[in-house]
Amino acid sequence: MRAVVVFESMYGNTHAVADEIATGLAGLGEVVVGSTDQIPPTAFDGDLLVVGGPTHVHGMSSKSSRHAAAEAAEADPELDLDENANAPGLRSWLKQLPDGKGTAAAAYDTRINQPTLITGAAAKGIAKRLRRHGYALAGDPMSFLVADSGGPLIEGELERARAWGEHLATRLAAGAPVVE
Ligand SMILES: Cc1cc2nc3c(=O)[nH]c(=O)nc-3n(C[C@H](O)[C@H](O)[C@H](O)COP(=O)(O)O)c2cc1C
Repeated sequence: MRAVVVFESMYGNTHAVADEIATGLAGLGEVVVGSTDQIPPTAFDGDLLVVGGPTHVHGMSSKSSRHAAAEAAEADPELDLDENANAPGLRSWLKQLPDGKGTAAAAYDTRINQPTLITGAAAKGIAKRLRRHGYALAGDPMSFLVADSGGPLIEGELERARAWGEHLATRLAAGAPVVE
C-alpha cells in the first residue's frame, strides 16, 4: 500500500508531526511525506491521504493568518519560519484536490494546548473538505498540541503522532470501516 502525508506548516511543528506520522505509517508499505508544494493536489496517488495544518483563528489558515504568522516571525528573532512556510495554504490545496472516489484519508492539526472550545481545531475543516472531495475518513480528526504559538510541541506529542500513524496503518491493513 501507498500512503501520502501532506502538510502546511509556518513554524515547523506541523511538519515535525507529519514526519512522525509517516514513520508510524511505514508498516503499510511506501510512505511519501511533503508540503503542499512538494505534493501538488493533482499528483496524489495512493491508498491513504493524510493532511495536516496549523490551527489559525480557530480553524484552517487563511491568506491573512499566514501573513500574520510570517510577520510575527519577522518581528521575533527567536521564531523561525519552516523551510516550507511559503508553500500554499491547505484551503487552496484542498480546493484543487480531485475526487477521491472513496480513498481513505485522515486529517490532523496542531493547536495550542487549551480546550478545543477556546482554541478551535483546523482538523475539523480539513476532514470536512476531504469528505466533500470524496474521501472516506479512516480516523477521527486529530490534534497535536503546542505549548505556545510558535511551538514547541508539548512533551510526548511526537510519540503520539507516530502512534497515530501506526493506528491508521493498522486500521487500513485490516480493511477497517471508515469513521462517519
Ligand atoms: C495568526 C495565528 C493565529 C493562530 N490562531 C490560533 C487559534 O485560534 N487556536 C490555536 O490553538 N492556535 C492558534 N495559533 C497557534 C498555531 O496553532 C500554531 O502556531 C501552530 O500550531 C504551529 O504550527 P506550525 O509550526 O506548523 O506553523 C495561531 C497562530 C497564528 C500565527
